Amino acid sequence: MGQIHTLIGIDAVVQTPMSEHYPEFLDESRVDAVSGFHRSMEGYAPTPLVFLDAMAQKLGLGKILVKDESHRFGLNAFKALGASYAMARFIEDRLELTLGKSGFRRFSEPQIRRQIEDITFVTATDGNHGRAVAWAASKIGCRSVVLMPKGSSRARLAAIADEGAQAAITAFNYDDTVRHAAEMARVRGWVLLQDTAWPGYTRIPTWITQGYTTLVTEALDQMDKAGAGRPTHVFVQAGVGSFASAVVGFLANRFKGRRPKMVVVEPERAACFFRSATVGDGRPHGVTGDLDTIMAGLACGEPSMVAWEILRDLADAFVSCPGAVSETGLRLLAEPLGRDSPVVSGESGSVGMGLLHDIMTRRELETLRAALALDEGSVVLLFSTEGDTDPESYQRILARRGI
Ligand SMILES: Cc1ncc(COP(=O)(O)O)c(C=O)c1O
Repeated sequence: MGQIHTLIGIDAVVQTPMSEHYPEFLDESRVDAVSGFHRSMEGYAPTPLVFLDAMAQKLGLGKILVKDESHRFGLNAFKALGASYAMARFIEDRLELTLGKSGFRRFSEPQIRRQIEDITFVTATDGNHGRAVAWAASKIGCRSVVLMPKGSSRARLAAIADEGAQAAITAFNYDDTVRHAAEMARVRGWVLLQDTAWPGYTRIPTWITQGYTTLVTEALDQMDKAGAGRPTHVFVQAGVGSFASAVVGFLANRFKGRRPKMVVVEPERAACFFRSATVGDGRPHGVTGDLDTIMAGLACGEPSMVAWEILRDLADAFVSCPGAVSETGLRLLAEPLGRDSPVVSGESGSVGMGLLHDIMTRRELETLRAALALDEGSVVLLFSTEGDTDPESYQRILARRGI
């Protein structure tokens, strides 16, 4: 394991991943079933995969591909893939039924609607997961309660309430809000639909993680159709790590020993995976405090247990970044070079682009560039996991040009 510290605030742990651990719940048959379910949903369409050819040329890379999740179900973020799939699986279990090929469409059957209308899903969220829970609950015909950490954006709260949830901002940080939601579920008989796992709470977060794989299925299909081959490098941003572990676990299963190099990216004050990798005893280690960062979706101090085991064994690097990195990415994606298409990418969506740019252009990061073998033959896949979910903050960052 190698640690790379820089004076510019970007730190990394590079490791040689184990190759023989492939999480079964993310194998080919599971991810195919998940994407079949999503295809059954009204309004489903694959999100665009944007090719940034001029940017790749400027940075000395073969290709840069950006999966643009601002178009997902009109919700401006990828999270509905996880919430909808987990709710469906929960209802299948509770009602002892199989949705089968009809998938989501079965929720319009009156006898099913009657049996689920009193279910209340509760969750804690920085915004995107909560909006997804509210949206999926109302589509399926259930209720939802969404709790947000202190300091959450009013715009994000309003977006969640607009989807039909009972929503509130609490006085706690993210991790304490999760504990509060779990307690409310216990006391009120609600169902906790949380996207992070801990000992004794793994079933629902595992379904959420499976739900995210549709985005990777789509990206690989789109690359295939465009003759772009397979990715050599993938950057995934992590909050609690469910998203990153879905991508890393899926790609490891699909490509085995020939899988891409996978880089996990976090904000510096909430870099719990980076910290866990740095400690290096194989166990997850949280970080505490206000977790202050502009990357609101990534402001999580405690790794999901399920995610940690996957990333610990299969990721190639863990990188901790200051907010300036995601600001760089946001502006590069908003105002691309040459004939490249723009991508509206919020603070948690753009950090991979910013980091890739810095790795390829900053002398201080040469060692990391070499350790990751990023060069003109590389095909780099990035996930812009959200659009401008906080439009005021997005515009403010855009206005601070001059990179
Ligand atoms: C836009 C965005 N990207 C990435 C993530 C990270 O996902 P996870 O918490 O599963 O690591 C989140 C989580 O809320 C998010 O909102």
